[in-house]
Amino acid sequence: MPFVGRERELRQLADALSRPPLVLLIEGEAGVGKTRLLHELTGHPMLVGSCHPMRFPYGPVVEALRDVRPMRDLNPITGALRPFLPECGHLLPPTPPPLQDAMVERHRLFRAVLSLLGSLRPITLAVEDVHWVDPGTRELLAFLARCLPDGVNLVVTYRAEDLCHPVTELLGHLPPRIDHAEIALGPLTAEETALLVKHLLPGSADLWPLTGGVPRAVEELTRMLADGQEPGTPPALRDAVLVKLAALPRAARHIVQAASQVEHPVCEDVLTGVAGVPPEQGERGLSEAVRCGLLREWTPGRYGLRQPLTRQAVSETITPAAGRRLRRRIAGPAEPQGTLSPREEEVARLAADGLTNKEIAESLFLSPRTVEVHIANALRKLGLTSRRQLTLGTT
Ligand SMILES: Nc1ncnc2c1ncn2[C@@H]1O[C@H](COP(=O)(O)OP(=O)(O)OP(=O)(O)O)[C@@H](O)[C@H]1O
Ligand SMILES: [Mg+2]
Repeated sequence: MPFVGRERELRQLADALSRPPLVLLIEGEAGVGKTRLLHELTGHPMLVGSCHPMRFPYGPVVEALRDVRPMRDLNPITGALRPFLPECGHLLPPTPPPLQDAMVERHRLFRAVLSLLGSLRPITLAVEDVHWVDPGTRELLAFLARCLPDGVNLVVTYRAEDLCHPVTELLGHLPPRIDHAEIALGPLTAEETALLVKHLLPGSADLWPLTGGVPRAVEELTRMLADGQEPGTPPALRDAVLVKLAALPRAARHIVQAASQVEHPVCEDVLTGVAGVPPEQGERGLSEAVRCGLLREWTPGRYGLRQPLTRQAVSETITPAAGRRLRRRIAGPAEPQGTLSPREEEVARLAADGLTNKEIAESLFLSPRTVEVHIANALRKLGLTSRRQLTLGTT
């Protein structure tokens, strides 16, 4: 699969890892390319383990270490890892006898990880998806971060929106000899997205407006298009959105659903007003919706859904009657007569060119119902009474 863009981030990553010992945090939303970025890096030996939603104790570190082939004389303490690493147990010293105190035993285990990593230097331990970290690994990572041996880096990747604990705790109390860095991975630009689409499905439409430049969304959408399906929300993305939506408290859920009916980012009062959420619950609901990653503050104080595909997925959770109610509330206060939103303008222009609602919907990746609403709004704002008047050159 071709790799596009990310020159700056790859450079940042390589720079950071070339000055061990260092702790590096890589943040980015689901599917944006954190794992791929690590894969694309060459010349830096790396052990990678991932946290999973099942939160297996020490799972990611065991996963990262299970296939190591230590060459140097190992500290006898590394024998404490034998029961965890049967794959390479024969290369480790004998298991030391059990200790009475569980905390003391834990300390020995942590020191064993440190010692094994030190024996493999230069090396980077990458723990992926720490938004799903188990409590044991969380403590182990904090310990490793503060005690990294020379020649050893620690990298963690995570999605801020799924985080339940502050990952920056790893950077607290680092001794001066241990450096730290952070990389925030954003979506691909429109040009990079076009390049990726060109590789994946030459000849398909511009997918940046729908995917917001998230490579996984681009991949899933091109797969659907290649299968001859309508450009809808890819099932995996829809499921992820639905799980998040279902986990939100009522007020936050209503705010997200209201946002799915709004074309452009709007301020808190408008959004909570459209959602019908009482002002005293609005602020909290809004911050919950932002924290879970469904809603985004696009510009200071203005909120909208993260991606058009997310919007589609959320829209599908609303009954037609509720959708109509929300859209009526949006249309209610209305912009001054005559001012069309960019989308309304686009729709009105295509209608003026004689396209049907279905054709407009297909060319703009909208639902026919949304097109209908845009046309109704455009007619109202332009003071027209029929669609035919649009074709007479009014727009
Ligand atoms: N720069 C890129 N160029 C081309 N494809 C990319 C790029 N970045 C990511 N991809 C592809 O997009 C998909 C998602 O990327 P990746 O798995 O790295 O995302 P992620 O941020 O690790 O997501 P998650 O939070 O779910 O772990 C993968 O198939 C990957 O190969
Ligand atoms: Mg990943």
